[in-house]
Amino acid sequence: MTEQKKTVFSGVQPTGAMHLGGWLGAFRNWVALQDDDAYDVIYCIVDLHAMTTPYDPAEFNRRRLDTAKMVLALGIDPDRSLLYMQSQVPQHAELAWILGTLTPTGVLNRMTQYKDKVEKGIPSNLGLYAYPVLMAADILLFHADLVPVGDDQKQHLEMSRDLAARFNNRFGDTFPIPEPLIPETSARVMSLAEPTAKMSKSDPNPKNRIDLDDPPDVIRKKIKSAMTDSDPTVRYDVEQKPGISNLLEIMSVTTGRTIDELSDEYETGGYGRFKEAVAEAVVAELAPIRARLATLDDDEVARILQKGALDARTRAERIQQEARDAVGLGRI
Ligand code: TYM
Repeated sequence: MTEQKKTVFSGVQPTGAMHLGGWLGAFRNWVALQDDDAYDVIYCIVDLHAMTTPYDPAEFNRRRLDTAKMVLALGIDPDRSLLYMQSQVPQHAELAWILGTLTPTGVLNRMTQYKDKVEKGIPSNLGLYAYPVLMAADILLFHADLVPVGDDQKQHLEMSRDLAARFNNRFGDTFPIPEPLIPETSARVMSLAEPTAKMSKSDPNPKNRIDLDDPPDVIRKKIKSAMTDSDPTVRYDVEQKPGISNLLEIMSVTTGRTIDELSDEYETGGYGRFKEAVAEAVVAELAPIRARLATLDDDEVARILQKGALDARTRAERIQQEARDAVGLGRI
């Protein structure tokens, strides 16, 4: 039966606290796809990707485990999803090398995330430059059909599709072309304090984002102080009212109500009342995650990751051998 299921793959970097942007842009879909019998789902903590920006090794090690714990708290169930740590499956790096030999440097030069990071002062290195190639390897290594991500990963996904097609053209049909799954609303949740930039875990100001383990009173405070504008009408207008539009999107996806319905209800009555309603919707949305997080302990998480790595290596090795054979690195 498993053969007929579509394979879902996605990843998260253990670079910092997971936040509401990731939840609404991607992780909600991770859980929904796991809960749908039509899919065989694989989720990966991409620690090799996270090494491309400066980090402290001891803190990094802790964050890898914390990120896995948070993924479990989201509702990812190891009996129904394969969850593992990227660095424990060496086939990722090997396939990245093979795909790297098919990647023109001109394509990498156009990657906006790379350019943005370097512009922000992150030291450029070969790993950071080749980041999207490793991401393509993650996806192709499991013959993924569907990749649930937020809008900021669109260009990387395009490159993964392109690399799958290049490989197939050059060496024969090997990899399915993966499709991105990006939500219509909340694909790009914006920063609370600076609503023209995306909510980001690398942002030094924690007021800009809502972390998935923020207690209710912290969530209320952050939303109350979210940047808005001086015209007190609640209306969706990304250009003129980026702060309010962001809050409308957040409330729409967390309540299941349309943006039109919400702007009708909250149009007048002031921002205070609207923000309170948004805060309560977010508090309710994140409550089950916080509750599950409190029940998980490190040993259990480590056991789940060890088993996940074993299963992932077995699956990856089978596909990797096909790729090796295709490129002329067959068994001797
Ligand atoms: P990462 O760790 O930055 O983010 C994890 C997921 O959260 C989404 N996301 C957002 N969505 C909406 N609004 C936001 N403000 C927001 N911030 C983050 C991201 O789009 C992502 O889906 N390169 C990836 C990790 C990765 C990966 C992969 C993903 C490595 N290999 C293979 C899919 C498939 C990243 O940095 O995600």
